[in-house]
Amino acid sequence: MIILKSRAEIEKIKTSCLIVAEILESLIEHVVPGITTWELNAISEELASKKHAKPAFKGYHGYPFALCTSVNEQVVHGMPSKLRRLKEGDIISLDFGVVLDGYYGDGALTAPVGKITEEAAQLCTVTEQSLYEGISKAISGNRLSDISHAIQDYVENRGYSVVREFVGHGIGQQLHESPQIPNYGPPGRGLKLRPGMVLALEPMINAGGPDVEILEDKWTAVTLDRRLSAHFEHTIAITENGPEVLTRRENRFTNPNR
Ligand code: MF3
Ligand code: CO
Repeated sequence: MIILKSRAEIEKIKTSCLIVAEILESLIEHVVPGITTWELNAISEELASKKHAKPAFKGYHGYPFALCTSVNEQVVHGMPSKLRRLKEGDIISLDFGVVLDGYYGDGALTAPVGKITEEAAQLCTVTEQSLYEGISKAISGNRLSDISHAIQDYVENRGYSVVREFVGHGIGQQLHESPQIPNYGPPGRGLKLRPGMVLALEPMINAGGPDVEILEDKWTAVTLDRRLSAHFEHTIAITENGPEVLTRRENRFTNPNR
């Protein structure tokens, strides 16, 4: 069942989303060679507590951390570790969510560690743009899979591949609500999009093949071919006036002035 949200509810979700966006922006400043993913997690917790917001992932299905830190070939759900020290040239996906006053916000980005290769930068740029291609289809009257198709089309036309095993989701008083939103598929299928729907769109895009596997820790998803993967996520609301990006940040990966 899809739960439509009132304007007042969307505003509550937006409050959480703005905290998520702000914390992700702050975390990027700490993404430098030498920092551990453990330290990034600790910073995310500290920033959330300053905002009186509860990290959404900690304890969710037993996930033990506030932040997901997925480095290089790690796709999603990479677990912070004291042993994982970032080095120049890495890329790291930071996925973070909070709940405040009963409403969730969820967002993710992939950040460069120092100077990265052109190949890695291209993957991040294409992944972020694919998210915006999906968002542009989040319009009342469109079908859910129009979002999925737009992402897949954009990504595959540029020689990258879409991860199948993880999907975007509805969000509100739960972190994960219906519907599930694959990042691939034919256009024109699925439910009709309506004002009041709040969705977390989150393409996970690989430089090589689409296949992933889960490591022994039962959480970390990595590419089967161990090539790079990137992940960007926004929580959006569908309104009468088109999509509203609730986790909007100041900067995009490619162009800090956009
Ligand atoms: N943004 C991710 C998601 O929507 C983060 C969940 S991590 C978990 O699935 F630990 F909470 F599962
Ligand atoms: Co999510």
